[in-house]
Amino acid sequence: MSKPKVFISREIFPEAIEMVRKVADTDLWPEETPAPRDVLLSKVSGVDGLLCLLTDKIDSELMEIAGPRLKVISQIAVGYENIDVKAATKRGIPVGYTPGVLTHATADFTFTLMLAAGRRLIDGTNFVKAGKWRTWHPLHFLGKEIYGSTLGLIGLGRIGLEVAKRATGFQMNILYHDIVRRRDLEEQYSLTYVDRDTILKQSDFLSLHVNLNPETYHLISEKEFSIMKSTAVLVNAARGPVIDPNALYWALKNGEIAAAGLDVTEPEPIPDDDPLLTLDNCIIAPHIASASIEARQEMSRIAAQNLVNGLQGEKLVECVNPEVYAKT
Ligand code: GLV
Repeated sequence: MSKPKVFISREIFPEAIEMVRKVADTDLWPEETPAPRDVLLSKVSGVDGLLCLLTDKIDSELMEIAGPRLKVISQIAVGYENIDVKAATKRGIPVGYTPGVLTHATADFTFTLMLAAGRRLIDGTNFVKAGKWRTWHPLHFLGKEIYGSTLGLIGLGRIGLEVAKRATGFQMNILYHDIVRRRDLEEQYSLTYVDRDTILKQSDFLSLHVNLNPETYHLISEKEFSIMKSTAVLVNAARGPVIDPNALYWALKNGEIAAAGLDVTEPEPIPDDDPLLTLDNCIIAPHIASASIEARQEMSRIAAQNLVNGLQGEKLVECVNPEVYAKT
């Protein structure tokens, strides 16, 4: 019997590719950048399984072109807003993802952004590299101290909670806001639930940990910046479009807030001429919060296992739409 066919849309850890190669004829996209749409569509035509990334649009047109053999879509990410999950469910196709294993990496990186943006690390590094460091100066590169300051978390899911745990080590006063109040966690982690205006008003560091959906699109825009402290540091390791980038530019430029640390932007990648790139008080990383070796290795392994399970008709280890199993 011939092996099933799969397409893997970018290079992942070699052990994970090996897991897939053992059971399937594997076509791997070797380039750094995503396959153009027409190439992606031709690559998926007739496959039994697909391992994809956030940068691939997996919609109903693609599923139609893949055809009736498509048994599994395995995404290597915890987010999956690039996938039309409803369309997959309608076709009975399980969608895999990789939650949990990137929680610590992302929480660590959130702190990296808070500390680096708050204490002007990149700004200072650029100053040194430009040959401008001439003396120690009491008033140079003043930033916001993290110890004992107020942290506002918008979204208290897996990653938000891990950020809160780290914040207790810095003796931060931790506020949170979410659509679901987590009374069960409040005492243990010294968390205070507050409404949106209060979190905006009181946070020295405001960190976003929500999914991207119609309710969270441009959640932080002009009005929100006008409420925030002028000394506040805004951090986003969630999704770029949660912040209105135009409003962010003006808030940073006009001193409505002090600094921003972004791991995600709208759009991605950020265009070379984006005005945010001209600001010293805005640090921008290329969506690398989950890029610890440990997390990416586990993400690769889980994505490969999901793909293999789906090809073999077994339940995925991490499934976005388990309702597909109820139907069979
Ligand atoms: C990365 O942003 C992910 O969703 O895994």
